[in-house]
Amino acid sequence: MKIVHIVGARPNFMKVAPVAAALAKTGVSGQVLVHTGQHFDANMSAIFFDQLGIPRPEINLEVGSGSHAAQTAAIMTALEPVLVRAATDLVMVYGDVNSTMAAAVVCAKLLIPVAHVEAGLRSFDRTMPEEINRVLTDQVSELLFTPSADADENLLREGVPKRRIHRVGNVMIDTLARLLPSAEQAVPPKSLPERFALVTLHRPSNVDDAQVLRQWVGALEKVSERLPVWFPLHPRTRQRIGGSASVAANGRLRWMDPVGYVEFLAMQRRATVVITDSGGIQEESTFLGVPCLTVRENTERPITVTLGTNSVVGRDPARLLDQVEKILAGQGKKGSVPPLWDGKAAERIAVVVAAWNSDRQRAKTQAN
Ligand code: UD1
Ligand code: UDP
Repeated sequence: MKIVHIVGARPNFMKVAPVAAALAKTGVSGQVLVHTGQHFDANMSAIFFDQLGIPRPEINLEVGSGSHAAQTAAIMTALEPVLVRAATDLVMVYGDVNSTMAAAVVCAKLLIPVAHVEAGLRSFDRTMPEEINRVLTDQVSELLFTPSADADENLLREGVPKRRIHRVGNVMIDTLARLLPSAEQAVPPKSLPERFALVTLHRPSNVDDAQVLRQWVGALEKVSERLPVWFPLHPRTRQRIGGSASVAANGRLRWMDPVGYVEFLAMQRRATVVITDSGGIQEESTFLGVPCLTVRENTERPITVTLGTNSVVGRDPARLLDQVEKILAGQGKKGSVPPLWDGKAAERIAVVVAAWNSDRQRAKTQAN
């Protein structure tokens, strides 16, 4: 069986790593990794291949950045001939970035089956580009691997046949569980402050508008009066903050470049509170039992709120500060780990893929 994995942006790498490894263990030898080049800085891409032990991509489409239409079209145009050349049984796509949706649509038109890992998540907010990517990818996928029951329900409501939906759990947690011991070694707990807030922001709705971004920076300065704030800056955010990121107002708001996975994991594990608009970090903080304040109006990962440590605080800085105070007073959410977030999601995916392939071979033999 020949499987092509399509990845392109930072959160894809944590997801492909365990899946490729689990498929290799079940004897799938023909795996090819295609990197679209959506993310390209060393600290947004190459570092993860090293740290996560992902094989180097056979092909890098090097599409880089652009408007949504330009980036999506560039991925589709570059990927189509690659897939036409390769006799592919299954293409696997991950998450909700432009690379995910672009690849899924190309495959659908070429009649190549698609498997979507992290299917069914919905924020119900179609102003988010990721929501469009999720809905479209799920509509054209043959195998839909979901992390939680809410995702199954969303897919069924959208008319996806039940037989295509496989609740396997959360592959990001597979990677986290595997690398937690290395994280402790890479960043010894003693090198971190006793209490600190770990921040990431990169959603266009939070960082693209200068006034909104200024408001968040002001709020983080206020948070830093209460505890040190560490803020690895996503390149989108770095571009908008510009030179002001080198100067901390009171020396306790510490900006830095994006860090590697194990470094970020070590920081996240020891953080007093995580403040973020990231999708994956809402999940990781729930697994780690660290209170997370999500500065968005909604989340496509509601289980992190109902079972986990996540609180969606909206985009009102006063509410954020209020929640930080509660956490400092020991009233942060304790949470629990959702079912099937057990480090074995990728193994379950490999079992489903093997069964799907056997059924397909049998059907082909019968047809001949
Ligand atoms: C993308 C995803 C988002 C995901 C995020 C993860 C889409 C629509 N968005 O957002 O869902 O949460 O990745 O990090 O797919 N840039 C660099 N170097 C890089 C990568 C980007 O400088 O290695 C800069 C580019 O100038 C670009 C900007 O960051 O203009 C945004 O990059 P892009 O991939 O378009 O979207 P993200 O905001 O990264
Ligand atoms: N992450 C990282 N270094 C950083 C910030 C985040 O390794 O400086 C990891 C984080 O642990 C998680 C993933 O990047 O595994 C989340 O990616 P991101 O927030 O870019 O995308 P999203 O999940 O919002 O799509």
